[in-house]
Amino acid sequence: MADPLRLVLLGPPGAGKGTQARRLVERFGLDPISTGDIFRRNIQEGTDLGRMAKSFIDAGELVPDEVTVGMVVEAVDAAPGGFILDGFPRNVPQAEALERELAARGRPLSAALAFLLDEEVAMKRVAGRRTCQRCQTPYNVFFDPPRVEGVCDRCGGPIVQRTDEGEETVRRRLEVYRESTAPLLKFYSDQGLLREVDADGTEDEVAGRVAAALADLG
Ligand code: AP5
Ligand code: MG
Repeated sequence: MADPLRLVLLGPPGAGKGTQARRLVERFGLDPISTGDIFRRNIQEGTDLGRMAKSFIDAGELVPDEVTVGMVVEAVDAAPGGFILDGFPRNVPQAEALERELAARGRPLSAALAFLLDEEVAMKRVAGRRTCQRCQTPYNVFFDPPRVEGVCDRCGGPIVQRTDEGEETVRRRLEVYRESTAPLLKFYSDQGLLREVDADGTEDEVAGRVAAALADLG
């Protein structure tokens, strides 16, 4: 049997990582691991982790690595087959820790998929985004609204705006991406794992490019 896919998604806020991750999860039967979603769930449930993470997230800064790495390793261990990491790693130390932990388990990454998108387009997408509070499905009031306003098509949950979507915070998140996360494109390119996808286009167009970029792996 083919080795299950173990993927990392890279890209600036608004690039469509969460949107395309959902499709990949359904298509390949992978476990989704989104650090942003895990943090938001903890914030909603009022856990210690959530309280700690909230101040960083609302400022557009990264949550400290000591917390994030352990959380991801736990999620990976709970996913015995293939998985898709959306939002992790986000800097070189996180990528090195991930590499070490996966090597120790004999489960190396299959590929790192990088979504390339102009920052102004990313800003506009984030400004229009609304997210289901229950199942985290993303919508967009400009491009992809739910059938009934404020209600999730998939689970009927309430659709809300994230608390880290003010213009200032999004600008900071884009800066953090440029400074800390963009260097990972070279990190994974040096390892022969990088696959780049043009993320400008409709969801279906981008999904087609993702499928093409992964065609030899599935
Ligand atoms: P996280 O939740 O990971 O946010 P992000 O990386 O900033 O990315 P987004 O979720 O904003 O964008 P996306 O690429 O998923 O786009 P989406 O599919 O929603 O992280 C949030 C925070 O948590 C961080 O700032 C940090 O504080 C913390 N954190 C998370 N991971 C961490 C880590 N590893 N270490 C430390 N801290 C961490 O799409 C965006 C919008 O566009 C949607 O409305 C969607 O409907 C729409 N859309 C998508 N595709 C298209 C398309 N093709 N055309 C038109 N519209 C589209
Ligand atoms: Mg996301």
